Amino acid sequence: MRMPQLEPLPGLPERVTIYEVGARDGLQNEPTVVPAAVKAELIRRLVAAGLDLVETTSFVNPAWVPQLADAAEVLDLLGDLGRGPRRPVLVPNERGLDRALEAGVGAVAVFGSATETFARRNLNRSVAESIAMFRPVVDRARGEGLWVRGYVSMCFGDPWEGEVPLGQVVDVCRALIDLGIDQLSLGDTIGVATGGQVVALLRALDAVGIGVDRIGVHFHDTYGQALANTLRALQEGVTVVDSSAGGLGGCPYARSATGNLATEDLLWALQGAGVRTGVDLEAVVQTSRWLAGQMGRPSPSRVVKALTGD
Ligand code: HMG
Ligand code: MG
Repeated sequence: MRMPQLEPLPGLPERVTIYEVGARDGLQNEPTVVPAAVKAELIRRLVAAGLDLVETTSFVNPAWVPQLADAAEVLDLLGDLGRGPRRPVLVPNERGLDRALEAGVGAVAVFGSATETFARRNLNRSVAESIAMFRPVVDRARGEGLWVRGYVSMCFGDPWEGEVPLGQVVDVCRALIDLGIDQLSLGDTIGVATGGQVVALLRALDAVGIGVDRIGVHFHDTYGQALANTLRALQEGVTVVDSSAGGLGGCPYARSATGNLATEDLLWALQGAGVRTGVDLEAVVQTSRWLAGQMGRPSPSRVVKALTGD
């Protein structure tokens, strides 16, 4: 399989951790429900490809996201491979945390919003009410020794509210950090961000004491900016990047959200620049191809298309 020609790109870190979200963000937005056995096989293949930090599923209200209603079954099928601090699951509330703990997970992610409209649509709560809902979740999760991530959606634009003021994003990030989370993920839910916005937000967070060592970036690729924005974030010192095998993804409660940055597209850029990830590009491509066959439609990833002729 063709590989990119090696030429280091100044300003990038030596190593990047990929936070793989395909099994969760990817599959939550599929019109068809993928069987639990296929989800478990997807996660096994991703881990075997060297993706060590893999978000497996969501313990949300199954009426809201029926695609992931089989969360416990997927974890059952995975056994030890689905547990531990490197296999987070999404939980919005204490009910979700109870279910996650029952399933034996070792890491959870709460997910807030920078805007009121999306908080209502995604969590049925205001921004402040959602933070209040997360507080006991984070407290209890930490008490149980779990690793905890906090997402902030609509950091760079919102389909209903339009532009999102930087200060508003920083306030929600601050509120999540103050709950005691281990890592913050900055979400461009509808893929509208451009490089300058990314730099501005990272610097604004740094100015309030939230350094890049606690930040991951989560770009959707709606406007084709996800990889450019990621590289810009890496040049600012970020070393954790969310991506989705094959470029699957979206959010059922934000219609204009499309696929996440494809893991393969990210790997092509990082491998070319000599940045270590520990991930086998060819194995991820084969996995995405296999999954596309299961779902009956080709992968949207440019790199998968270019390498496989699909
Ligand atoms: P609600 O309807 O307000 O919940 O939803 P409620 O607390 O009023 O409870 C209603 C019923 O749901 C109750 O049952 C609860 O027990 C049950 P009843 O008493 O009526 O029989 N329930 C649950 N059942 C199972 N698991 C649970 C759970 N919670 C309540 N966890 C809620 C509030 C937060 C639950 C709902 O809005 C929800 O589940 N939202 C999740 C939406 C979602 O998953 N969105 C996609 C993920 S976010 C995303 O993709 C963005 C991200 O990728 C970053 C980015 O791109 O920006 C992370
Ligand atoms: Mg997302």
